[in-house]
Amino acid sequence: MFYEPDKKNHGLPHNPFKSICVPRPIAWISSLSKDGVLNVAPFSQFTNLSYDPPCIVFSAGGFRGGLKDTVRNIWETNEFVVNMATWELREKVELTSQPVEPDVDEAKVAGLEMIPSRLVKPPRIAASPVQMECRYHSCLQIPGNHEPHYLMVGRVHGVHIKDDMIGPDGKLDILKIRPLARLGYLDYTSVESFITMVPTGPNVEAQIRGLSGTPQPSTPVTAK
Ligand SMILES: Cc1cc2nc3c(=O)[nH]c(=O)nc-3n(C[C@H](O)[C@H](O)[C@H](O)COP(=O)(O)O)c2cc1C
Repeated sequence: MFYEPDKKNHGLPHNPFKSICVPRPIAWISSLSKDGVLNVAPFSQFTNLSYDPPCIVFSAGGFRGGLKDTVRNIWETNEFVVNMATWELREKVELTSQPVEPDVDEAKVAGLEMIPSRLVKPPRIAASPVQMECRYHSCLQIPGNHEPHYLMVGRVHGVHIKDDMIGPDGKLDILKIRPLARLGYLDYTSVESFITMVPTGPNVEAQIRGLSGTPQPSTPVTAK
């Protein structure tokens, strides 16, 4: 089949577009309004944008002619935390996606314990195994047929990883973490297996360095 999204001529019962770039990790974002009201919401149009400097990007649609609370909060306060969503936390992730009034604290709605961040004011989700403390960098606004989309870039200034989620080899134990990811429709998946592929190119060492993270002497790990 072939279809042109602008013509909406896919002829299928559901728009297939969101099922194409899959699986998508979920940024479970905590932010504070300028009056200090906590907001938590999931965003699967999300990825890391660069690693040096470490930046992430997520995109949020407009909402009823205005902004989603997450976007407004980040514009007002400059700070947010990306908490990793996991299979175990899936029901709480969904609960925090409900459209509620800006003065409602979704963490309370979902029964989430929040703990302080180190560098930014918005707190982190205690149960999430990995949290990234971010500051707003920039936004690209993309006009839509109904609402615009806001592509929000954040720079990562601090990363928390639960010690028991790091394996004896010093790598994130991704099967233990079991990150949650969005498919299309109402479907989700999680990471339950992986394979390791060793590069075979002419400059294998450089390739390995790039893919696996530069093996520089690391600075001492600070306390949690
Ligand atoms: C798993 C999941 C992923 C989502 N991803 C996005 C997304 O990438 N962009 C978006 O605009 N909304 C997304 N949503 C919907 C928002 O979470 C929802 O609109 C939420 O109410 C926004 O909250 P806020 O107004 O408190 O920022 C997603 C919902 C779920 C359950």
